[in-house]
Amino acid sequence: MKLKSHIHNIIKDAFVKADIKYEPVMVSEASKPEFGDYQFNGAMALSKKLKKNPREIAQNILDALDCTGMLAKAEIAGPGFINLWLNPLWLAKESQIALQDVRLGIKKRDNPIKVVVDYSGPNMAKEMHVGHLRSTIIGDTLANLLSFLGDEVIRQNHIGDWGTQFGMLIAYLEMKDEDGSVSLKDLEQFYKDAKAEFDANEEFADKAREYVVKIQSGDKHCLQLWQKFIDISLGHCQEVYDKLDVNLRPDDVRAESFYNDALPKVIEALDAKGMLVQSNGAQCVFLEEEETPVIVQKGDGGYLYATTDLAALRYRVEVLGARRISYVVDARQREHFKQIFMVAKEAGFVSKNVKLEHIAFGTMMDKEGKPFKTRDGGTVKLIDLLDEAVVKASETIKNKEDYSKEEIDALAKIIGIGAVKYADLSINRESNYIFSWDKMLSFEGNTSLYMQYAYARIRSLFRRHGGSIKGEIVIGDTLEHRLVVMLLRFEDVLERAAEDASPHLITTYLYELVTLFMRFYEQNPILKDGVEKEVKMSRLLIADLTAKTIKQGLRLLGIKVVEKL
Ligand code: ARG
Repeated sequence: MKLKSHIHNIIKDAFVKADIKYEPVMVSEASKPEFGDYQFNGAMALSKKLKKNPREIAQNILDALDCTGMLAKAEIAGPGFINLWLNPLWLAKESQIALQDVRLGIKKRDNPIKVVVDYSGPNMAKEMHVGHLRSTIIGDTLANLLSFLGDEVIRQNHIGDWGTQFGMLIAYLEMKDEDGSVSLKDLEQFYKDAKAEFDANEEFADKAREYVVKIQSGDKHCLQLWQKFIDISLGHCQEVYDKLDVNLRPDDVRAESFYNDALPKVIEALDAKGMLVQSNGAQCVFLEEEETPVIVQKGDGGYLYATTDLAALRYRVEVLGARRISYVVDARQREHFKQIFMVAKEAGFVSKNVKLEHIAFGTMMDKEGKPFKTRDGGTVKLIDLLDEAVVKASETIKNKEDYSKEEIDALAKIIGIGAVKYADLSINRESNYIFSWDKMLSFEGNTSLYMQYAYARIRSLFRRHGGSIKGEIVIGDTLEHRLVVMLLRFEDVLERAAEDASPHLITTYLYELVTLFMRFYEQNPILKDGVEKEVKMSRLLIADLTAKTIKQGLRLLGIKVVEKL
């Protein structure tokens, strides 16, 4: 239900009737219950244009406003606001419709587009670390969300699998892997050992350098070693993705090396446009108002991260047909993307109707506000962090007596991983983010556990009720009214979150929803003796829609619910 656009339409009609030229008017959710459900606040802006008193304008609109269907009541307030109350009968009917639909009344877009979401993008030379966590989680949510709303989403995992460090790594792999059994269990350690060998052993270092040239020129033996190394490293990543329960599959990998053949063509295209300038032997693109140029080819002929991104961008537009490309990458790469987008536009790689966006996010910090590190100052491996989350989650719930060991294990996975994801998604992505186990695994506050708990409570309510739920939603009091309005706002929230690529709008919504539900649950008895049957059924239906909304909201965030907690 696109609640807001329904309200917009009613106001639009009133504008026509009142003979005022319609402008994209301002309607917002009322900030306090006494202001109604929504508030029109466009009269002040119009008053300057129309040279009329805002209250008079508001009165004209009010007189023309249709209060017979969706709206129950409208009142002028303050300097010229119009407070709007939705009609409880209309709300009841709409929520009933939502309840009967698996998509909760949310239609797929009429004009879906192809969207590439570029996320995760770990480097193959090293193990995935916490820095890749945020990209993976935020990107996955954005992809889930857009595809739920009907867009055709193409997930692209732009892994770093090319570059000079691979010469060293494959030379070391060859040296260590005489019998073909090196498992590379610990990539981090492997990298360190290879580096130590490189620094200490002149002969090895020469070989490593030679191997760089050899992979680049397509030497079969070296490419085989390289492929082996990448396969193992990607296997580690897939393990993390599966643990994290994100929707990234091997098919989504479009590695940097995939674009190798397209790199010279990028240079040619830029050259044809007259955009290349030689500077200290390198090929550069100078951009207006940018201090540093974009280097696209080094003096020795080698290409750069930026060149690959330009090639990838062309591929996404020309071959994949993307109309929106969302790069979910660390805020520190802001300048890089700004420049890439500028070059791509200037070179005509993208037309105006393609939206390019850098979905930047801040750094993960520890409790002291320092970048997240292990106790001895190393980078935290993602896999270890996730395992720890599960252990910590099982400590939180281990006192639950009516669970078997297996149940606790299964629950701990859902709760622990959910907590890590939710905590990350629930803050404005551009902010740095303070990682705290205690906070994220709390039953109270804006946490996944609070949402999962609310969901489980509703499910247990249904178990206690036992029978079927037949009846109609009848809004009985202000609290039920507010709760239903909140439930019907879900689609608006999702649209907004998708537009701004801001998952925290979903978590904020869920938190408000669940907080409201908890109040309703405490104040309005459901299964207690003496509650009339119709009231009981109506409340159960409201609870049901709440549970389904929580479940759907969490599902978009990649978090599961549990039936019992
Ligand atoms: N591998 C890069 C890194 O770890 C991230 C890749 C992001 N995507 C892109 N198209 N550049 O920094």
